[in-house]
Amino acid sequence: MEDLQLETKKKVLAVKDLPTLPKVLEEVSKLVEDPNSSTEKIAKAISRDQVLSAKVLKMVNSPIYGFPRRISTIQHALVLLGFNVIKGLIISTSVFDIMTKSMVGLWEHSLGCALAASVIAKKVGFKDPEEYAVAGLLHDLGKVIALVQLPELKEEVDAVVKKEDLSYYEAERKVMGFAHDRINAWLADYWNLPLRLREALAWHHKVKSAQHHPDMAAVVHLADFITRAFEVGFAGDDQVSFVYPESLKILKLSLNDLEDILDNLGEQFLELSHFTPDE
Ligand SMILES: [Fe+2]
Ligand SMILES: [Fe+2]
Repeated sequence: MEDLQLETKKKVLAVKDLPTLPKVLEEVSKLVEDPNSSTEKIAKAISRDQVLSAKVLKMVNSPIYGFPRRISTIQHALVLLGFNVIKGLIISTSVFDIMTKSMVGLWEHSLGCALAASVIAKKVGFKDPEEYAVAGLLHDLGKVIALVQLPELKEEVDAVVKKEDLSYYEAERKVMGFAHDRINAWLADYWNLPLRLREALAWHHKVKSAQHHPDMAAVVHLADFITRAFEVGFAGDDQVSFVYPESLKILKLSLNDLEDILDNLGEQFLELSHFTPDE
């Protein structure tokens, strides 16, 4: 089993088919580390890629972030959201095409989860709900990467979901020996994502295992549950999902708080359903 897993891991991470992140991201990551650099320089570097900039700005102005006024420049977006969020948005727009092609409904599920994560983070009182939203946006990325890298497994996973009445997560584990959360961790390392984001992506199905930032994993777990409960998009199965009670505890949320969050989200999900990032 170990050998098989290693083999599969190698295939999943085979770079030749992995979505390539825009060139500009590498340059920008260097600028971020450089003490002599500035937001202005970083913004200029991103803005040189006009198609990418337009896509990022579209996401920044989506209902997920709900800024009252339109943000029209990358520099303004960087000031408001920070580089980590912009990096997450660049990644999400880079995989948008393969995501919508490989798994119908997963993009909508991811957008929904981003919105829910932001609403939960605000309710808890976290000061950077935008970072939680990005974690929600990217949380099921591993599903897509598995489908792209191991297309022969897709039918098998789908068949197991149907035949054995399992969740997509359980079916992935049965067919591959691991699920998208593990792939997320590999990707996060490969793309050098911040630790908080890595932990949220890697542990949204096992919140207690997040060693450093269980709060972000808990928010994404809860957001995932809510998005499925509202049937926003499709995450690969029709199973009724559940909440780990410890995620509420980690976030110090009561059931009343949860109810508030749900009330709040109903209408916002509706608004989000009118948003398309690819126009
Ligand atoms: Fe997941
Ligand atoms: Fe999910």
